Amino acid sequence: MSVLPPPEEKARYVERMFARIASGYDRVNRVMTFGLDQGWRRHVVELVAPPIGGRSLDVGTGTGDFLPELASWTRHGLAVGVDFTLPMMQAGQPKLADLGPHAAFVGGDALHLPFPDQSFDAITTGFVMRNVVDIRQAFAEMYRVARPGGIMACLEVARPRNPMVRMGHRLYFEGVVPWIGQILGGDRRAYTYLPQSARAFPGPEQLAELMREVGWQFVSYRLHSLGAVAIHVGARV
Ligand SMILES: C[S@@+](CC[C@H](N)C(=O)[O-])C[C@H]1O[C@@H](n2cnc3c(N)ncnc32)[C@H](O)[C@@H]1O
Repeated sequence: MSVLPPPEEKARYVERMFARIASGYDRVNRVMTFGLDQGWRRHVVELVAPPIGGRSLDVGTGTGDFLPELASWTRHGLAVGVDFTLPMMQAGQPKLADLGPHAAFVGGDALHLPFPDQSFDAITTGFVMRNVVDIRQAFAEMYRVARPGGIMACLEVARPRNPMVRMGHRLYFEGVVPWIGQILGGDRRAYTYLPQSARAFPGPEQLAELMREVGWQFVSYRLHSLGAVAIHVGARV
């Protein structure tokens, strides 16, 4: 049975869903990815290489898992996480405790980022594009707020290409993950949405094309962890 909402209800549906699962979100992520998720995020931050003293942005930041890593690169600069689900950022508040004035959460919509043009040197986004109503608009907004020379990297789930791996991945993602979500996160529906939204998501080549269409240049991507995730990178020249 599909749990995917119609496009006109998607934003509210997504916000409510993440508000429900906010308190257990990190725990479920670590278990469901066998602890690989933080390594993927670290790699994304390495790719965008935020400059010391610069400004970095994480779009759809959730509980802020990218922010300590971004802040460790920008140091006395600023790492900002933006999201429209306030309970996710509240759950992540302790991660910002040691970062003082060098990291902050901001409430806002990825489709209308609350920042002036050309504000950020480096932009990350992880597991967000599946959840937005308009992926092209989200990439266009990130492009708008990127400074010339800025780099953006997008981490998302993908479907493995090897048929055997793909079958095993599907069994795990669609059969096991909803139960992990139920047991550790108390919400089977949200973790049924996850594999279903992944199935409906454009493939890596299409995603790269969307980035190019809104202006990102030198766009490339690599698949990681047997093709279960894709990391796309682009630059604003
Ligand atoms: C799967 S979580 C990812 C959180 C975090 N980036 C991570 O790596 O764990 C998706 C996040 O995107 C946020 N989100 C989805 N659509 C959004 C939008 N249009 N504007 C702002 N945030 C959005 C959700 O509120 C949620 O916190």
